[in-house]
Amino acid sequence: MIKVQKGTKDILPAEMPIWHFMEEKANEIFTKYGAKEIRTPIFEATELFARGVGDTTDIVNKEMYTFEKSDRSLTLRPENTAGVVRSFIENGMHRLSAPVKLWYKGPMFRYERPQAGRQRQFHQVGVEVFGIKQATADAEVILMAVNYLKELGLNDLTVELNSLGCPKCREEFKTRLKEVIRPYLPQLCEDCQTRFDKNPLRLLDCKSPECQEIYAKPEIQAVIQGDFICEECSEHFEELKGYLDALGIKYTRNKLLVRGLDYYNRTVFEIKSNNLGSQNAVCGGGRYDTLVKNLGGEDTPAIGFAMGMERLASLLGEKQDKKLKAYIVSNNTLEAIKLAEELRAKNITCEFDLTNKKFVKQLEKASKVAEYALILGEDEISANKITVKDLDTSEQKTIKKEELDLV
Ligand code: HAM
Repeated sequence: MIKVQKGTKDILPAEMPIWHFMEEKANEIFTKYGAKEIRTPIFEATELFARGVGDTTDIVNKEMYTFEKSDRSLTLRPENTAGVVRSFIENGMHRLSAPVKLWYKGPMFRYERPQAGRQRQFHQVGVEVFGIKQATADAEVILMAVNYLKELGLNDLTVELNSLGCPKCREEFKTRLKEVIRPYLPQLCEDCQTRFDKNPLRLLDCKSPECQEIYAKPEIQAVIQGDFICEECSEHFEELKGYLDALGIKYTRNKLLVRGLDYYNRTVFEIKSNNLGSQNAVCGGGRYDTLVKNLGGEDTPAIGFAMGMERLASLLGEKQDKKLKAYIVSNNTLEAIKLAEELRAKNITCEFDLTNKKFVKQLEKASKVAEYALILGEDEISANKITVKDLDTSEQKTIKKEELDLV
């Protein structure tokens, strides 16, 4: 038997109401903020991610699904910011009046070790806002994320916030961090030994208990907890916090929040659930003011976020599938088909028995799947009438066919 691949899942019809709910809410909420939907291809040139996400990241180094076709190296998208930026540049969207707000939904692919909340094919819904460097955009993007989650009915979430500064102040931080960590270098895990030179900020993200113990040392904590960001970055961050405070958006400052992608500067944030296991981030995002230029576009500041839809779905639990409006009970198949098509033309969901079962069996089925049974016996057909049975209250009445009004 050929089975579904490790780290991938079927989304079955019974789960679809939750997925439709998440997708419809995304369209509704993000549209209210002026965002327009964009759909970019699922595979892109490998170079886009190497340059966009960063070739020192785990995503690019270990997790990409890369393949060759006609001498081209292609990769299934591990995330969608790079693809949206590529499209923004390619389609000259910098010429549109700023801000350009885009939202998306769709599958992403990362070759990670699967566990609860972590898959190899997963889905994200996300937003990218281009063209505004002021902290107002940061505040609005965080609001969009928080309000979307609120509209889904999710509570018990924590917003974690940090500022990574700009490339200038971050260099100084990296140098100081390396200075205090250097004496412990031989004791660090293999990954951290590589990160030390390539991407020292990512040291803070390490989950190994041995490394954690080292990074908890007072001289290292003093550097981590110290305020390293320059005056301009600090003003930007204070302004953002001011907006969030004024809007009643609760957040905690997490100085260890560095995010696993290289394109960020200044604001980064994650929204975590207190009801998920170790994979508890439902949303991750931040500012990436240099990415558009780095990928060959005009200098354009930007900020965005993405949410893992499987993680949202597991928090939302089950949602009852809607019943059909009507189920036609009849032994005259042709009349049943005709009525069904008339109803569908009026946007009424309905089905009828395709196998000509006994009346009682058809009625049993109707009571399971529909709100109303529409009974078309020989008497009704010859009188051009229809018996409507409300399957909730069991009330029934026979009416003229033209009087049927189920909407
Ligand atoms: P990310 O933090 O890598 O950010 O992913 C965002 C969210 O996608 C995570 O918080 C998580 O909910 C979900 N996610 C990530 N990997 C998996 C996985 N293997 N299985 C299930 N869910 C997963 C980004 O992707 C950035 N592009 C976000 C962004 C947009 N930053 C700026 N704009």
